[in-house]
Amino acid sequence: MYLLIPAAGSGKRMGSNRNKLLLEVRSQTIIAWTLKAAAAASTIQWIGIISQPTDWPDFKAILADLQLTKPVELIIGGSTRQESVYNGLQALPTAAEQVLIHDGARCLVTPNLLNSCAQAIRQCPGLIAAVPVKDTIKVVDENGIIQSTPDRQQLWAAQTPQGFNVKLLKQCHAEGVSQGWEVTDDAALFERCGIEVRIVEGEETNLKVTTPQDLAIAEFILTNRGS
Ligand code: CTP
Ligand code: MG
Repeated sequence: MYLLIPAAGSGKRMGSNRNKLLLEVRSQTIIAWTLKAAAAASTIQWIGIISQPTDWPDFKAILADLQLTKPVELIIGGSTRQESVYNGLQALPTAAEQVLIHDGARCLVTPNLLNSCAQAIRQCPGLIAAVPVKDTIKVVDENGIIQSTPDRQQLWAAQTPQGFNVKLLKQCHAEGVSQGWEVTDDAALFERCGIEVRIVEGEETNLKVTTPQDLAIAEFILTNRGS
Protein backbone atom coordinates (compact mmCIF):
# COMPACT_ATOMS: atom_id res chain seq x y z
CA MET A 1 0.00 0.00 0.00
CA TYR A 2 1.11 3.53 -0.83
CA LEU A 3 1.02 6.04 2.03
CA LEU A 4 0.95 9.83 1.72
CA ILE A 5 1.76 11.84 4.84
CA PRO A 6 0.63 15.49 4.77
CA ALA A 7 3.36 17.27 6.74
CA ALA A 8 3.47 20.71 5.12
CA GLY A 9 1.60 22.75 7.74
CA SER A 10 2.99 25.50 9.92
CA GLY A 11 1.38 24.58 13.22
CA LYS A 12 -0.22 27.95 14.02
CA ARG A 13 -2.38 26.59 16.84
CA MET A 14 0.72 25.13 18.46
CA GLY A 15 2.08 28.67 18.73
CA SER A 16 5.57 27.52 17.85
CA ASN A 17 7.75 29.37 15.32
CA ARG A 18 8.31 26.29 13.17
CA ASN A 19 6.45 23.29 11.75
CA LYS A 20 5.01 21.54 14.83
CA LEU A 21 6.01 18.16 13.34
CA LEU A 22 9.62 19.06 14.16
CA LEU A 23 8.84 19.47 17.87
CA GLU A 24 9.91 16.59 20.09
CA VAL A 25 7.93 14.21 22.29
CA ARG A 26 9.98 11.78 24.32
CA SER A 27 13.18 12.79 22.50
CA GLN A 28 11.82 12.14 18.99
CA THR A 29 10.15 14.54 16.61
CA ILE A 30 6.43 14.12 15.95
CA ILE A 31 7.10 13.24 12.30
CA ALA A 32 9.63 10.60 13.41
CA TRP A 33 6.97 8.91 15.57
CA THR A 34 4.55 8.90 12.64
CA LEU A 35 7.21 7.48 10.32
CA LYS A 36 8.09 4.79 12.84
CA ALA A 37 4.46 3.63 12.92
CA ALA A 38 4.38 3.58 9.09
CA ALA A 39 7.65 1.67 8.98
CA ALA A 40 6.29 -0.92 11.41
CA ALA A 41 3.06 -1.42 9.41
CA SER A 42 3.81 -4.42 7.19
CA THR A 43 1.23 -3.47 4.53
CA ILE A 44 2.89 -0.12 3.75
CA GLN A 45 5.37 -0.42 0.87
CA TRP A 46 6.02 3.23 -0.09
CA ILE A 47 5.86 6.52 1.81
CA GLY A 48 5.49 10.04 0.40
CA ILE A 49 6.05 12.90 2.84
CA ILE A 50 4.34 16.06 1.62
CA SER A 51 6.27 18.95 3.09
CA GLN A 52 7.70 22.43 2.60
CA PRO A 53 11.22 22.51 1.12
CA THR A 54 12.34 24.82 3.97
CA ASP A 55 11.82 21.81 6.28
CA TRP A 56 13.62 19.34 4.02
CA PRO A 57 17.05 19.62 5.69
CA ASP A 58 15.37 18.64 9.00
CA PHE A 59 13.28 15.89 7.40
CA LYS A 60 16.33 14.47 5.61
CA ALA A 61 18.27 14.37 8.88
CA ILE A 62 15.37 12.54 10.56
CA LEU A 63 15.18 10.02 7.69
CA ALA A 64 18.93 9.46 7.82
CA ASP A 65 18.57 8.74 11.51
CA LEU A 66 15.59 6.37 11.15
CA GLN A 67 17.12 4.30 8.31
CA LEU A 68 13.75 3.07 7.01
CA THR A 69 13.89 0.07 4.70
CA LYS A 70 10.94 1.29 2.59
CA PRO A 71 11.24 3.85 -0.22
CA VAL A 72 10.47 7.38 1.00
CA GLU A 73 9.95 10.44 -1.20
CA LEU A 74 9.70 14.10 -0.29
CA ILE A 75 6.93 15.90 -2.17
CA ILE A 76 6.42 19.67 -2.20
CA GLY A 77 3.43 20.76 -0.11
CA GLY A 78 0.79 23.37 -0.90
CA SER A 79 -0.70 26.28 1.04
CA THR A 80 -3.65 24.22 2.31
CA ARG A 81 -3.89 20.58 3.32
CA GLN A 82 -6.11 20.00 0.30
CA GLU A 83 -3.43 21.41 -2.04
CA SER A 84 -0.79 19.35 -0.28
CA VAL A 85 -2.75 16.13 -0.84
CA TYR A 86 -3.35 17.14 -4.46
CA ASN A 87 0.42 17.45 -4.96
CA GLY A 88 0.90 14.10 -3.25
CA LEU A 89 -1.54 12.42 -5.62
CA GLN A 90 0.37 13.74 -8.65
CA ALA A 91 3.60 12.34 -7.21
CA LEU A 92 2.27 8.81 -6.57
CA PRO A 93 3.92 6.03 -8.59
CA THR A 94 1.67 5.05 -11.52
CA ALA A 95 1.26 1.54 -10.07
CA ALA A 96 -0.69 2.93 -7.09
CA GLU A 97 -4.36 1.88 -7.34
CA GLN A 98 -5.23 2.70 -3.74
CA VAL A 99 -3.69 5.14 -1.34
CA LEU A 100 -3.76 5.78 2.39
CA ILE A 101 -3.44 9.36 3.59
CA HIS A 102 -2.32 9.85 7.17
CA ASP A 103 -1.62 13.21 8.84
CA GLY A 104 1.94 13.65 10.05
CA ALA A 105 0.43 15.22 13.17
CA ARG A 106 -1.31 11.95 14.20
CA CYS A 107 1.89 10.48 15.56
CA LEU A 108 0.18 8.06 17.96
CA VAL A 109 -1.40 5.93 15.25
CA THR A 110 -0.65 2.23 15.64
CA PRO A 111 0.76 0.01 12.87
CA ASN A 112 -2.32 -2.12 13.49
CA LEU A 113 -4.75 0.66 12.47
CA LEU A 114 -2.66 1.46 9.36
CA ASN A 115 -2.72 -2.24 8.43
CA SER A 116 -6.45 -2.64 8.93
CA CYS A 117 -7.16 0.45 6.79
CA ALA A 118 -4.76 -0.84 4.10
CA GLN A 119 -6.65 -4.16 3.98
CA ALA A 120 -10.10 -2.57 4.02
CA ILE A 121 -9.44 -0.09 1.19
CA ARG A 122 -9.00 -3.00 -1.20
CA GLN A 123 -12.76 -3.71 -0.83
CA CYS A 124 -14.32 -0.21 -1.06
CA PRO A 125 -13.82 3.12 -2.86
CA GLY A 126 -13.15 5.21 0.25
CA LEU A 127 -12.82 4.89 4.02
CA ILE A 128 -11.80 6.85 7.07
CA ALA A 129 -10.84 5.93 10.60
CA ALA A 130 -13.27 7.53 13.05
CA VAL A 131 -14.43 7.21 16.66
CA PRO A 132 -17.89 7.82 18.17
CA VAL A 133 -18.06 11.28 19.76
CA LYS A 134 -18.26 11.34 23.55
CA ASP A 135 -19.53 14.90 23.98
CA THR A 136 -22.98 16.14 23.11
CA ILE A 137 -22.47 18.37 20.07
CA LYS A 138 -24.42 21.63 19.60
CA VAL A 139 -25.01 23.55 16.40
CA VAL A 140 -24.62 27.22 17.36
CA ASP A 141 -25.32 30.41 15.38
CA GLU A 142 -23.10 33.50 15.16
CA ASN A 143 -24.85 35.06 18.22
CA GLY A 144 -23.94 32.13 20.43
CA ILE A 145 -27.46 30.71 20.39
CA ILE A 146 -27.93 26.96 20.06
CA GLN A 147 -29.85 25.98 16.95
CA SER A 148 -30.00 22.22 17.37
CA THR A 149 -28.54 19.13 19.00
CA PRO A 150 -27.72 16.38 16.49
CA ASP A 151 -28.35 12.83 17.63
CA ARG A 152 -25.06 11.61 19.10
CA GLN A 153 -25.66 8.08 17.85
CA GLN A 154 -24.97 9.37 14.37
CA LEU A 155 -21.88 11.45 15.13
CA TRP A 156 -18.34 10.24 14.58
CA ALA A 157 -15.08 12.17 14.92
CA ALA A 158 -12.98 11.78 11.77
CA GLN A 159 -9.36 10.74 12.06
CA THR A 160 -6.75 9.57 9.61
CA PRO A 161 -5.75 7.14 8.06
CA GLN A 162 -8.17 7.79 5.24
CA GLY A 163 -8.02 5.47 2.25
CA PHE A 164 -9.16 5.94 -1.34
CA ASN A 165 -9.18 4.53 -4.81
CA VAL A 166 -6.55 6.73 -6.48
CA LYS A 167 -8.38 7.26 -9.76
CA LEU A 168 -11.58 8.34 -7.97
CA LEU A 169 -9.73 10.59 -5.54
CA LYS A 170 -7.92 12.35 -8.40
CA GLN A 171 -11.30 12.90 -10.09
CA CYS A 172 -12.80 14.28 -6.85
CA HIS A 173 -9.84 16.63 -6.34
CA ALA A 174 -10.19 17.90 -9.91
CA GLU A 175 -13.92 18.46 -9.32
CA GLY A 176 -13.08 20.26 -6.05
CA VAL A 177 -10.68 22.59 -7.89
CA SER A 178 -13.17 23.39 -10.64
CA GLN A 179 -16.04 23.98 -8.19
CA GLY A 180 -13.90 25.88 -5.66
CA TRP A 181 -14.75 23.49 -2.80
CA GLU A 182 -12.72 24.03 0.36
CA VAL A 183 -12.73 21.00 2.63
CA THR A 184 -10.68 19.83 5.59
CA ASP A 185 -10.39 16.20 4.58
CA ASP A 186 -10.49 14.07 1.45
CA ALA A 187 -13.56 12.15 2.54
CA ALA A 188 -15.54 15.40 2.21
CA LEU A 189 -14.58 15.54 -1.49
CA PHE A 190 -15.88 12.00 -1.96
CA GLU A 191 -19.12 12.88 -0.14
CA ARG A 192 -19.69 15.92 -2.36
CA CYS A 193 -19.12 13.76 -5.43
CA GLY A 194 -21.67 11.25 -4.10
CA ILE A 195 -19.20 8.40 -3.62
CA GLU A 196 -19.60 6.13 -0.59
CA VAL A 197 -17.07 6.49 2.22
CA ARG A 198 -17.16 3.95 5.01
CA ILE A 199 -15.98 4.12 8.59
CA VAL A 200 -13.25 1.97 10.09
CA GLU A 201 -13.23 2.08 13.89
CA GLY A 202 -10.28 4.33 14.83
CA GLU A 203 -8.40 4.61 18.11
CA GLU A 204 -9.15 6.87 21.06
CA THR A 205 -5.41 7.58 21.41
CA ASN A 206 -4.98 8.52 17.74
CA LEU A 207 -5.17 12.23 18.46
CA LYS A 208 -3.98 15.01 16.16
CA VAL A 209 -1.26 16.91 17.95
CA THR A 210 -2.60 20.46 17.53
CA THR A 211 -2.02 22.49 20.72
CA PRO A 212 0.71 22.50 23.42
CA GLN A 213 -1.67 20.51 25.63
CA ASP A 214 -1.76 17.74 23.00
CA LEU A 215 2.03 17.47 23.27
CA ALA A 216 1.68 16.70 26.96
CA ILE A 217 -1.06 14.13 26.28
CA ALA A 218 1.03 12.49 23.53
CA GLU A 219 3.95 12.27 25.92
CA PHE A 220 1.73 10.61 28.52
CA ILE A 221 0.37 8.04 26.04
CA LEU A 222 3.81 7.15 24.65
CA THR A 223 5.19 6.79 28.17
CA ASN A 224 2.32 4.46 29.10
CA ARG A 225 2.98 2.38 25.99
CA GLY A 226 6.61 2.08 27.02
CA SER A 227 7.66 3.60 23.68
N1 CTP B 1 -0.80 20.08 6.29
C1 CTP B 1 -0.22 20.04 5.01
N2 CTP B 1 -0.22 21.15 4.21
C2 CTP B 1 -0.80 22.30 4.63
C3 CTP B 1 -1.42 22.35 5.91
C4 CTP B 1 -1.42 21.22 6.72
O1 CTP B 1 0.33 19.01 4.62
N3 CTP B 1 -0.73 23.37 3.84
C5 CTP B 1 -0.71 18.90 7.16
C6 CTP B 1 -0.11 19.21 8.53
O2 CTP B 1 1.32 19.19 8.45
C7 CTP B 1 -0.68 18.12 9.41
C8 CTP B 1 -2.03 17.80 8.73
O3 CTP B 1 -2.01 18.42 7.44
O4 CTP B 1 0.11 16.95 9.45
C9 CTP B 1 -3.20 18.27 9.57
O5 CTP B 1 -3.18 19.69 9.67
P1 CTP B 1 -3.15 20.52 11.03
O6 CTP B 1 -3.19 19.63 12.20
O7 CTP B 1 -4.14 21.61 10.88
O8 CTP B 1 -1.64 21.12 11.01
P2 CTP B 1 -1.17 22.60 10.73
O9 CTP B 1 -1.92 23.15 9.56
O10 CTP B 1 0.31 22.58 10.67
O11 CTP B 1 -1.61 23.33 12.07
P3 CTP B 1 -2.47 24.70 12.23
O12 CTP B 1 -3.77 24.46 11.49
O13 CTP B 1 -2.62 24.87 13.70
O14 CTP B 1 -1.64 25.78 11.58
MG1 MG C 1 -4.09 23.38 9.65
